[in-house]
Formats: sequence, structure tokens, C-alpha cells
Amino acid sequence: MLQTSAIDKLSFPIPAESNSSVLQEISSTYYQLTPNEVRDRCFAAKETLGDSVFILAHHYQRDETFQFQDASGDSLNLAQVAKKQSAQYILFCGVHFMAESADILTSDDQAVILPNLTAGCSMADMADVDMVEDCWDELIEACGENKFIPITYINSSASLKAFCGKNGGIVCTSSNSETVLQWALKQGKSVLFFPDQHLGRNTANKLGVPKENIRLWDRQNDGGLTAEDLKNTKVLLWNGYCSVHTRFSVDQIKAIRSRRPEVKVIVHPECSEEVVNAADFDGSTNKIIQIIENAESGSSWAVGTEINLVHRLHQKLYPREGKHIECLNPHVCPCSTMYCTDPVNVLWVLENLIEGRVVNQIKVPPETARWAKVALDRMLKLS
Ligand code: 13P
Ligand code: SF4
Repeated sequence: MLQTSAIDKLSFPIPAESNSSVLQEISSTYYQLTPNEVRDRCFAAKETLGDSVFILAHHYQRDETFQFQDASGDSLNLAQVAKKQSAQYILFCGVHFMAESADILTSDDQAVILPNLTAGCSMADMADVDMVEDCWDELIEACGENKFIPITYINSSASLKAFCGKNGGIVCTSSNSETVLQWALKQGKSVLFFPDQHLGRNTANKLGVPKENIRLWDRQNDGGLTAEDLKNTKVLLWNGYCSVHTRFSVDQIKAIRSRRPEVKVIVHPECSEEVVNAADFDGSTNKIIQIIENAESGSSWAVGTEINLVHRLHQKLYPREGKHIECLNPHVCPCSTMYCTDPVNVLWVLENLIEGRVVNQIKVPPETARWAKVALDRMLKLS
């Protein structure tokens, strides 16, 4: 739903790590428009701008925003699509780290725009480059220069991707984490995996890394591990997590199975190890969509991921194929930062472009972008 507001001007605080330079304001007149007026003006503005603008949307965007997309996908797809795009302006309806990756992968004369600059990711914020560098120094002190390779989940700042690029490391997404972790382990190395401990642990489990060689680096407690521990570690996990996916539980799986014995449970690998082990399937948002779309008509699904994607799947597949698709957690909240990009933000960006103004551009500093691209390209080559 669109919000109306009596405030004269709405200003959005720019996140500290943001590379945008100007505080942007949306005139309150935009918020006095009806939802239909906003929608119609958005489509009209897109038509005026033609091929010069391309809108990418992550699966977690709400329907009112998602409807404007030219391409949608999971984090890996969106990075791949952005890299191939020739449009002058790329609007990224997603979160900050995704727009940064798109900026890194596109050419200097293209502008990547985040319609609402407050769209961050709480998991990405759990690892900052200074903390990771401190951890890295301790690993070198305990184990020497060559034992560890850093892997960053794409849900991280550009400076952490650059850290990986500089230190022989790589980026992964939830679609390719097994391939990427295998690439590092095959080199006989151990891995420092950040920021999501759950994706790291679930992936290490799938590859059969023994439990006793997987350890957690407690960032609030100087790591909390001895030099001996570090020497015996194959996968060292940063203790970050996603506040949306850690709300799914084994009890919810038991409850839904007793209510709907025929149900299949599918969850995102940002869920805890216990939840992933108890589910029937796990996978990235694209894999979740693929598995449910290819399932038998009339099948029943409980899905452990963000609610907007789950609703959209049900709305599409229930009328067409009688598939019953519900959220594993009946009380789950949406990802609040994915939710904050509303159609007014999109309209404001598009109408500014028509007036020749680029607002909310995400620009990664050149040196950071150069090294981050090294780590992103390593990943894209493997995918
Ligand atoms: P994927 O779309 O890559 O599965 O990631 C989910 C997510 O948390 C995005 O922030
Ligand atoms: Fe970040 Fe979790 Fe939201 Fe994805 S769902 S953007 S990981 S907080």
C-alpha cells in the first residue's frame, strides 16, 4: 500500500557506507497521489525513457514495486543481468549491496540507481571491513599467510568484496555457494566465510566438511578461538545472520506437517542448520521457484523465505495448477529493507531522469570497485 504523509518533505538518511553524495528529498506532493496515479505515471515515465532505463527487481520486492521490473531474479541472476545491460540507467529495486555489485559490473558511463537509499541489509551490516581485517591479521599470526581464503557472501559491502579480491578470495551467492566453497577447498585451503554463518555452515555440511573442522568466529569476543583451534579449522564462519530467515524453526516444520501431512517443506539456506536439515529441500530463491514450478499440480508447499515471494508464488500457481503454497512461519515479517522501496520512490527517480537529473546514484569508489570486481568476476567465471 502507498503511504500518504502530511510532512512537507520526506528525507532519507543515507547509510554510512553509502557511496551516494547528495541527501535526496521527495516532495510530499508525490505522496498525495493515489496508488493508481503513481502506477500510471511510472509506466508512462518508463515509456518516455525507453531503452535508456532498465529496472531490475529482486524476488523479495513487494508486488506494487515488482510490477515495474524488466528483469527479476535472485542475487546471482541480477548480477549477471546487470553485467550484460547496456541501458544508460539501471534502477535496482533491491538492497544497497545489490546496487553496488551492479555498479561494479557495469561500465563507467552507466548509472546504477537505488530508488530508496535506506534499503540496506542488516546481515551485510554485521561485517565491516575493519573487523574482518582484524580477524584476518589474527589468522595470519596463528597460521601464516597461506592457510585461509576469504569468501564473502554477495550480501556484503563493496569494501569486503574488494578485500576478497585483494587476498585471493571470491564472492558467492546462495545459488553457487557449493561450487565456490569447493573451488577454495580444492586448493587445499581453509576458508574464512562471511557474513552469513548459516549459509556457510549449510554449504560446508553439504560438502561433507567434518563438524569438528567448522568453527564460529565470535566477532564480539575477539574471535574467542585459540591459535590451535584456528590451525584445526577448515571453515571459519563469521557470526552474522539474516533476521528474516532465522525466524523459521523446526517447531514450525513439525506444526505444518501435522496440519498438512502431504506438505513439502522448502527453505532458504540462510535458515539455521537444524531447519535446513529438517526441511525436504533447500535452495536460493531461484531454486525455490524452480522446484515449486516444476512440482506436480495440486502439491502442497511450506516455504521458508521472505513473504512477498511466497505470496507471489501462491497467487500465480494456486489458480493455475491448484498448488497450495504458504509461508512456513505464519507470523513471519517481510524483509523491512526490501519492503521500503515503494512505487513513489520509483516514480520520483524516473521523473527526475526525464528532467535530466540522476538521483540516488550508487557509485563505488574506483579503487574499491577494481578489487571488488576481481572477486565478483572470479565468481561469475565459476557460475
Ligand atoms: P537469493 O535471492 O540469492 O537467494 O538471496 C536471498 C537474499 O537474502 C537476498 O538478500
Ligand atoms: Fe538482508 Fe535477510 Fe533482507 Fe536478504 S532477507 S536483504 S539477507 S535482511
